[in-house]
Amino acid sequence: MSLVIKNGTAFINGHFEKKDICIEDGIITNIGSNLKADEKINATDMLVLPGLIDPHVHLREPGQEYKEDFVTGGRAAIAGGFTTVIDMPNNLPPIVTKKRFEEKAKLAKKALCDVLLHFGGTDKNFDEVKKADPLSLKLYLAKTTGEMMLHNPDSLEHHYENFPSNRPIVLHACGDSSDPETNVKQSCEKTEHAISLANKMKRHIHLAHASTKSEVLIAQKCKTCTVEVAPHHLFLSVRDESRLGPFAKVYPPLRSEQKRIYLWQSLEMVDCIATDHAPHTTEDKENGAAGLPGLETSLSLMLTACDQGLLDKIWVVQRMSENIVDIFNLKKKGRLKKGYAGDITIVDPKREWEVCGSDLETKCKWSPFEGKKLKGKVHTVIRNGNPVYLEYCFI
Ligand code: DOR
Ligand code: ZN
Repeated sequence: MSLVIKNGTAFINGHFEKKDICIEDGIITNIGSNLKADEKINATDMLVLPGLIDPHVHLREPGQEYKEDFVTGGRAAIAGGFTTVIDMPNNLPPIVTKKRFEEKAKLAKKALCDVLLHFGGTDKNFDEVKKADPLSLKLYLAKTTGEMMLHNPDSLEHHYENFPSNRPIVLHACGDSSDPETNVKQSCEKTEHAISLANKMKRHIHLAHASTKSEVLIAQKCKTCTVEVAPHHLFLSVRDESRLGPFAKVYPPLRSEQKRIYLWQSLEMVDCIATDHAPHTTEDKENGAAGLPGLETSLSLMLTACDQGLLDKIWVVQRMSENIVDIFNLKKKGRLKKGYAGDITIVDPKREWEVCGSDLETKCKWSPFEGKKLKGKVHTVIRNGNPVYLEYCFI
């Protein structure tokens, strides 16, 4: 079957232009004008984007399916415009052996979007990392949900040596103190240490969820370091804690309002946006769980900021698609280009909506952005040439 997306404003070669896009057998086969195909989707007044990619999600399966699973998490991804996500290894038990990695990859096939997996590093599993041969390795240098964390100070260097230097090692380099100032200081120290070592060893590292301008500036000192920022650190600060109570808890923590504003000033140096979608039940949140869901609000938050003149649409789309492909060496994804995957996200930039947790696809059914009015919404999502979400509804 062939499909054409007609009359949209498409993101092609770094800019927006009116073009039709034709997909055949799951692959983009033509980009041009007046194209024809068996099926047609009308994208007049819409933005046509490459299927977005989220390099940092926690879909919780296996082990914590009561919080989220590949079906609900996959639906949340699609509704948020993501056709590919990369899932974190802090499952219960953690994904630190080849066997668990392969079992998880099988489970992930039931998701409506493509799910790729980060592999977890421990103080001992160097041989397992080699055997599993993943696209990236995640190292926790501080506490997280679950039990993953490096304890031995030598393990970082050992993993740096052991893992192919052109594949990214993703670092959770956040502080763990509950005192805000100390936490920021620890985050900077951990980042500085990890980065100076990477610089010396000329290896690619990727700094997960940088939450302050200081961390971004530190990362900037290393040519082989890329940096991601999560929308919750751009749109929420400690000011929101009184409203959200335990629902504001996240690692790295929300920062001061001043630091949030400084983070915006560092965006020119940021390589990608990652949701860090980390759903928990309301009961778990009330009992102190850290993490916020973000798959279904992130793109709209960023587009709303574009509408307000705070961000540039091109900057946003690049950081939610092609930059991620380049960082994680993903093949034939993230760009609207002949020969690339027929993964496409169509967005109505004018559509206004209000975040309502109970309407979301994520199993947790709440959002730290509850009640927020946003402008710009995912209208249609095509995965591998097949529409899976059409005019705001799943097929
Ligand atoms: O707040 C967080 N939640 N930070 C993490 O590092 C992990 C995540 C989770 O898995 O819940
Ligand atoms: Zn995370």
